[in-house]
Amino acid sequence: MRVGVIGAGVMGSNHARVLSGLPGVSLVGVVDPSPAHLTRTTELAGCQGFETLDQLFAAGVDAVTIAAPTHLHHEVALACIAKNIHVLVEKPIASTVEEGREIVAAAQKAGVTLMVGHVERFNPAVAAVKQAIAGEDILSIAITRVGPFPPRMSNVGVVIDLAVHDIDLIRWFTESDIVEVQPQLSSAVAEREDIALLQFRTANGVLAHINTNWLTPFKARSVTVATRGKYVMGDLLTRQVTECFGFKPDGSYSMRHLPVGHDEPLRAELIAFLKAVRHGETPAVTGDEGVASLEIATQCLETPSRPAATAPARKEPRRVAG
Ligand SMILES: NC(=O)c1ccc[n+]([C@@H]2O[C@H](COP(=O)([O-])OP(=O)(O)OC[C@H]3O[C@@H](n4cnc5c(N)ncnc54)[C@H](O)[C@@H]3O)[C@@H](O)[C@H]2O)c1
Repeated sequence: MRVGVIGAGVMGSNHARVLSGLPGVSLVGVVDPSPAHLTRTTELAGCQGFETLDQLFAAGVDAVTIAAPTHLHHEVALACIAKNIHVLVEKPIASTVEEGREIVAAAQKAGVTLMVGHVERFNPAVAAVKQAIAGEDILSIAITRVGPFPPRMSNVGVVIDLAVHDIDLIRWFTESDIVEVQPQLSSAVAEREDIALLQFRTANGVLAHINTNWLTPFKARSVTVATRGKYVMGDLLTRQVTECFGFKPDGSYSMRHLPVGHDEPLRAELIAFLKAVRHGETPAVTGDEGVASLEIATQCLETPSRPAATAPARKEPRRVAG
């Protein structure tokens, strides 16, 4: 399969590196208007570099991965779909829900595969959590995704940049839609929100919580799921997944570490995309799912928080005395 990568920044260079090593794939080239990014990526992946999309089209591709900035996903995806090229687009699917829907509709009309790069689903620790809760009655989910400010600030805050990963995971774990959203957002340092505490209820009654920010000095990513029969804890960075089970009336329970694979998530994601293209299967993360997660993230930004009774609004952070 002839594959191209659009955007040679942080994610695009990883796409190119992984694709260059996949069997049955010919990495035709990478497109990026930045000569420096292009050189770095073509050297890393040993492929051609193109300054424009039309040059990549002229070289001939069956499929592309789009890792250009999010505000360009719509324009670039539509251009590729118009040429009947299969598309994997990085998360979030687009800048707006409307743009996301247009990409989905165009792909459907053209009959091309469209997958969204919600790469956490391919994290072996996440897969182990998903497997551990299969068939369980899920009660609640808590996800933490915190860390320092990214070196390059894009024009989105933590909800669209980070929480969208976890909104997708909540929908995937529960196999249900989110029907209630209660966000608390704050911009402590940045112009956009840099702290978000988001609460959700799914259609099948699961309560979920996301704690995300860019103000923690170290990266932490964890998922805990409480079911009637189990309590599952996953560290997405160390990839340690543990479950507590066999709860007894005396308060005792058993605990075990679960086996977790070693796959590179991006490699597994790209293999899944190419498999869906080859066999004409529904991709692992559909365009509709990408739009649904973006819609919830957008709702988090648009839902006004309700002031508590008569308390005056506090602008400054609380200083703890003592
Ligand atoms: N799945 C994940 O975990 C994950 C992580 C980071 C970023 N992302 C997503 O990947 C996308 C890119 O993020 P990034 O961090 O790599 O950004 P980045 O700024 O490092 O890279 C973007 C690249 O696109 C290039 N570009 C600009 N205009 C272009 C055009 N018209 N055609 C082709 N390339 C163009 C830029 O020169 C740059 O090299 C975003 O949508 C982001 O949300 C996903």
